Amino acid sequence: MTAPQAQPQPQPRGPEALRAEGIVKRFGSVEALGGVGMQVAAGEMLGILGDNGAGKSTLLKILTGFHQPDAGTIYVHGQHQTLNTVDRARALGIECVYQDLALVNGLSIYHNMFLNRELLKPGPFRLLDHRAMRERAMDALADIGVNIPNVNLEVGRLSGGQRQAIAVARAVHSDAKILLLDEPLAAMGAREAGQIIALIERLKARGDIAIVMIAHNYAQTLEVCDRVMLMQHGSVTYESHAAETSPAELLEIVRREYREMRGG
Ligand SMILES: Nc1ncnc2c1ncn2[C@@H]1O[C@H](COP(=O)(O)OP(=O)(O)OP(=O)(O)O)[C@@H](O)[C@H]1O
Ligand SMILES: [Mg+2]
Repeated sequence: MTAPQAQPQPQPRGPEALRAEGIVKRFGSVEALGGVGMQVAAGEMLGILGDNGAGKSTLLKILTGFHQPDAGTIYVHGQHQTLNTVDRARALGIECVYQDLALVNGLSIYHNMFLNRELLKPGPFRLLDHRAMRERAMDALADIGVNIPNVNLEVGRLSGGQRQAIAVARAVHSDAKILLLDEPLAAMGAREAGQIIALIERLKARGDIAIVMIAHNYAQTLEVCDRVMLMQHGSVTYESHAAETSPAELLEIVRREYREMRGG
């Protein structure tokens, strides 16, 4: 395995929202992450690129409390934190859309959208406010232009792209200050992908949300993100402001890295 190259670190703009240092993660004999660092500021969008198996999803799952790192430190809004559960990360304002979606197929769309944060009717009986949840779910989906006729439908009956849209809408409408998106555009048609990008850009324009997006399309990522980082075989091999690199440059780095790996 080649050592990660020393890179001048492009600095994020704005106050730091999330930072990880020296993250190591092993699955048995597989070292998925070999000491990875990242940071993202409020109002900034970081793109994470890299080939299949590079460790992108594993990093995100550590940042969202789903996996525990074997080593490394995480800071949320400048404070050292141990993200030992997804609920802990969520309580700190970190919300995630996983690549392998975490929706419950047997529940309705609106139930899924309010999973673990159900709206209750006022009063002592803690009754679920189904009507409010339905209305808010409709609004949230209309907001991202997703065409779903009925929020009472079971999620298991939807297409992959529709499910993806619901997972994104749920994260976006959660008041999270740190939003982690693992391939939110995968399984999306061109129109739906455009709507998700527009929604993410509106969020970014609010200026107080830090967004991390894993993607495979270099051009699309450079277009929407402020900064990109490239992961290869469990390491960050390149980082740049989006305006200071190009799809061609990224592709060349990937090719060079794998040539070096093969060569020795
Ligand atoms: N739960 C797990 N158990 C065992 N190995 C795992 C697990 N999750 C990931 N891995 C391994 O860790 C490595 C990194 O996987 P990861 O899912 O982070 O890659 P990725 O960069 O997200 O790839 P892709 O672009 O295909 O989604 C791979 O070798 C994978 O097989
Ligand atoms: Mg992945």
